[in-house]
Amino acid sequence: MVRKILKYGEPVLEQKAEPITDFNDTELSELIADMWETMYAAKGVGLAAPQIGLSKRVSVIDITVGEDESKKIVIINPEIVSTEGKQTGEEGCLSLPGFREPVTRANKITLRAQNEKGETVELVGEELLARAFLHEIDHLNGILFINHLSALKRDIIRRKIKKLQKAGEWE
Ligand code: NI
Repeated sequence: MVRKILKYGEPVLEQKAEPITDFNDTELSELIADMWETMYAAKGVGLAAPQIGLSKRVSVIDITVGEDESKKIVIINPEIVSTEGKQTGEEGCLSLPGFREPVTRANKITLRAQNEKGETVELVGEELLARAFLHEIDHLNGILFINHLSALKRDIIRRKIKKLQKAGEWE
């Protein structure tokens, strides 16, 4: 089922999400199925559970946007093991539609997470995948990409969003 993607301004997007503890739960597999459906419907490369209003540490990522099934990644309770290098590139977020800004992040990341079965896995991402991993882990900690921008840029975006909210164009 496609769920509503919450936009910036919803408090759940800026809260630290709770760990997943029950992996035998059909609710978890249903949640993940809904997250895939919602992410692909929005043509995104990643989606975190808080973006559909659930404060849980689950994200789905597919930097091929559905082109390659084998590239689908679910990360649950992820932890950063190490990072290397730097990259700067344009970043956007389904919770901040219409806004894209350059963000500097690590170029390579190793993370430890659990998969849908609750097994611990170690994953390595470089370039766009590293960016997606870091963006999604941020979501689970209540951090949005605009938090990585200068205060000035962030204020400009916040003001534009306030105008959109007043016009009823940000719901
Ligand atoms: Ni995002």
